[in-house]
Amino acid sequence: MEGKKHLLSVVISVILQLFVVSGAVEVSSGGRKGTWKLLQQNTGVVAMHMALTYRNTVIMFDQTAAGPSQHRLPRRYNGKRCTRSREDLEDWSCYAHSVEYDVDGNKLRSLRLDTDPWCSSGSFLSNGTLLQTGGYGSGSKKIRYFNPCSDHQCNWKQSKQMVCFQSVTPEKDRVIIVGGTHGRNAFSYEFVPKLHSSDRSFNLTFLRNTNDPNARGNNLYPFLHLSSDGNLFIFANRDSILFNYRRNKVIKTFPRIPGGGSRNYPSSGSSVILPLDQKDRFQKVVMVCGGGASGAYEAAARGTFLKALTSCGRMVISGYRHMWKMENMPGPRIMHDMLVLPTGRILIINGAKRGCAGWKNAVSPSLQPYLYNPKKTLGRRFSVLKSTKIARMYHSSALLLPNGGVLVAGGNPNNRYTFRNVSYPTELRLQAFIPHYMDRQYHHLRPVNVSIEYSSNPYRIAYGEEFIVQFRLERRPIMEVEYSVYAPPFTTHSISMNQRLLKLRSKNTVRDAGGWMTAVLEAPPCPNVAPPGYYLLTVVNGGIPSLSQWIRFIHA
Ligand SMILES: *[C@@H]1O[C@H](CO)[C@@H](O)[C@H](O)[C@H]1NC(C)=O
Ligand SMILES: *[C@@H]1O[C@H](CO)[C@@H](O)[C@H](O)[C@H]1NC(C)=O
Ligand SMILES: *[C@@H]1O[C@H](CO)[C@@H](O)[C@H](O)[C@H]1NC(C)=O
Ligand SMILES: *[C@@H]1O[C@H](CO)[C@@H](O)[C@H](O)[C@H]1NC(C)=O
Repeated sequence: MEGKKHLLSVVISVILQLFVVSGAVEVSSGGRKGTWKLLQQNTGVVAMHMALTYRNTVIMFDQTAAGPSQHRLPRRYNGKRCTRSREDLEDWSCYAHSVEYDVDGNKLRSLRLDTDPWCSSGSFLSNGTLLQTGGYGSGSKKIRYFNPCSDHQCNWKQSKQMVCFQSVTPEKDRVIIVGGTHGRNAFSYEFVPKLHSSDRSFNLTFLRNTNDPNARGNNLYPFLHLSSDGNLFIFANRDSILFNYRRNKVIKTFPRIPGGGSRNYPSSGSSVILPLDQKDRFQKVVMVCGGGASGAYEAAARGTFLKALTSCGRMVISGYRHMWKMENMPGPRIMHDMLVLPTGRILIINGAKRGCAGWKNAVSPSLQPYLYNPKKTLGRRFSVLKSTKIARMYHSSALLLPNGGVLVAGGNPNNRYTFRNVSYPTELRLQAFIPHYMDRQYHHLRPVNVSIEYSSNPYRIAYGEEFIVQFRLERRPIMEVEYSVYAPPFTTHSISMNQRLLKLRSKNTVRDAGGWMTAVLEAPPCPNVAPPGYYLLTVVNGGIPSLSQWIRFIHA
């Protein structure tokens, strides 16, 4: 980043902080809609892919095929100088295409990428390393690793191994990748690392059957959720199956989701598994929201932008009886992100009201986030939160931060970095959406000084093990204190891959005279419920979450 730009962004963020503080009165009286804060004026690189590491850094990257980013490098990564010649000004290797954002320091650092990771997928391994697969052109078969560090020295490492497809969920330290890129007809899945050295990929007819060839698929970036029985829930277009990937066998075909249209790229809706609660034995309920109207892709090609889907469906995927229960969001929405907040509410943020995903395929940005409370009765679950002024459409992303805020970044509905003469310019501003629970008026409820007590195995907790969490509460809690753990996802194209939140059982909670609380918690029972790796542990008191602490679950 150039010095001047950086200074500018620092100044702006100071001004905004003042604004937020002085605006606090309005927030207190105005209720529970949250606020927005500008963190950086220019991330240099479009954050079309984002992931939070356990070192409290966020990895962001774009597609090298978009050409020059706004972060010019003095030298290429092979050492050759980048001159002012026309050739070098146009050469993508003279620009950064990935950055690391330091959450606590609000600072950016460029990272090396050697091949194009456009439209790829990612997943954290159990040791906190980010595995990132696929991309475009020479990058389409690449596997990249990022080992997070705290000294700002680490970088992407490209593996010599190859992969064919994308979209992931982890099983122990093996990642399954389902489906493939635009027009490649990758109706299959594969593993990294492979199950057996001779394996290549496995056909998955379901992907062929859900493919809509006139609309670029409408089944790309399928929604994947690992079920508690170890099978994989796969949703594509409008249909879904429960799939035993070890035996390449469809276990169950679920009913088609009502509401017409399509739910996957380019009709990109979004999906989450609702919080998994030990009180209902971690029962899995999948939720799918929004998407594209039937014919949205073809219409967009003619310059007509059809109203997106307003409906959401919820379905229990365990047990024997399956039915989508439908409800409506406050408005139509496509290309949004769905995040599970530490309170167990679902935040729906970013996206547009008309059109579909792809270059210049959408209009009418959705500026208001929605909040969904799964515990309320039907018809009373949604509320509308504070509007942003910044459109975040195709190639935007959002993720949950350890302080309970939401990082919002990216947006590029154009095939290059384009800032002029377009309805929706490339968006490089970095924002935080600050939910109401972070407001000063709730500070007296916020649990502070959260720490995890480790016995023999430092910084690791085994499945099913009891462990102790300590924290301080200013006042005696009125309601039962809740404890959640959250798997940080890899986010791109409106999907937060591997996102899940679990509510853990607390066996015993005591409070001493000084307000110190000691709780005995039970770790998740097995990897199917919570794949091994790093999670954010949060203590929630009366709906107000603490700062989250990293915790790691492993096999004993
Ligand atoms: C984590 O595991 C991966 C895959 O085995 C490996 O490539 C990586 O170096 C490991 N990271 C650390 C920090 O040990
Ligand atoms: C998988 O599908 C491809 C393309 O239709 C076909 O050529 C191949 O024989 C199939 N493989 C298996 C094992 O069924
Ligand atoms: C602006 O966009 C329009 C429509 O795409 C195009 O015809 C025109 O040439 C563009 N103008 C400039 C200055 O690029
Ligand atoms: C407890 O938290 C408060 C506020 O976050 C902090 O100022 C203080 O240093 C912490 N105390 C301990 C003992 O960690």
